[in-house]
Amino acid sequence: MRKKLIIGNWKMNPRSAEDARKIFAAIKRKAAKISSVTTVICPPFPFLNLLSPDKKVALGAQDIHSEQDGAFTGEVSLAMVANAGGRYVIVGHSERRALGETDEFVNKKLMQALKHGMNSVLCIGEKERDEGGHYLHFLNAELVAALNKIPSTHLRHLVIAYEPIWAIGKKEDEAMKPSEMHEMTIYIRKVLKSLYRGVDVESVPVLYGGSIGESNAEAMIRDGMVDGLLVGRQSLEPEAFGAILALADKTR
Ligand code: 13P
Repeated sequence: MRKKLIIGNWKMNPRSAEDARKIFAAIKRKAAKISSVTTVICPPFPFLNLLSPDKKVALGAQDIHSEQDGAFTGEVSLAMVANAGGRYVIVGHSERRALGETDEFVNKKLMQALKHGMNSVLCIGEKERDEGGHYLHFLNAELVAALNKIPSTHLRHLVIAYEPIWAIGKKEDEAMKPSEMHEMTIYIRKVLKSLYRGVDVESVPVLYGGSIGESNAEAMIRDGMVDGLLVGRQSLEPEAFGAILALADKTR
């Protein structure tokens, strides 16, 4: 059985390094008891260097720039993330796209990360659903654009996180239903198959993100047929996040 991948995205939290250390240490204690889950925490950049990953909990960044280095005020490069201990990067989160990140920029960032062998979590997701199924065309276009010119040899470091924007930051019972996610898992794999003919795309993990907590994590993994979860708010709550890890650990 494949290990589940549970990624915590702290977004722009917590406020202090002291709190970051405390939360991370508590998560490490929870993860120590878990065997079939890969846990990743993506803190804000200033905390990356301060946190010590271990065998059970890896570190990741919430973004990178597409260039290696240079005159890009305020940006952080892949090498800096890697040197700070980051083994994963999130690329194309909807909250970054909302700030103006284009499909082309997302594609360049993804290329930069994958060509250097960084585990890259590509986020996709529609703003809203419509009766006519246009959201599927939107998702197809987002995937095609993000994976433009990315060779199949890079797929072993790729993770797809499906985060419907309408399900982010809501109550747990307003998250997507696992049965709907099952359809999306199949759809995403279908698009990957059409882009990479003859390549084993089943090995690319597909995650769900959006209002995941203790109450819906298990059903989402089991019935949504996902390989893991991308967790926002509840990844800052060690008790709740620990419970999600434990549920993922026992869910087949
Ligand atoms: P919430 O879990 O807080 O809804 O955030 C989801 C998300 O955007 C993770 O990247």
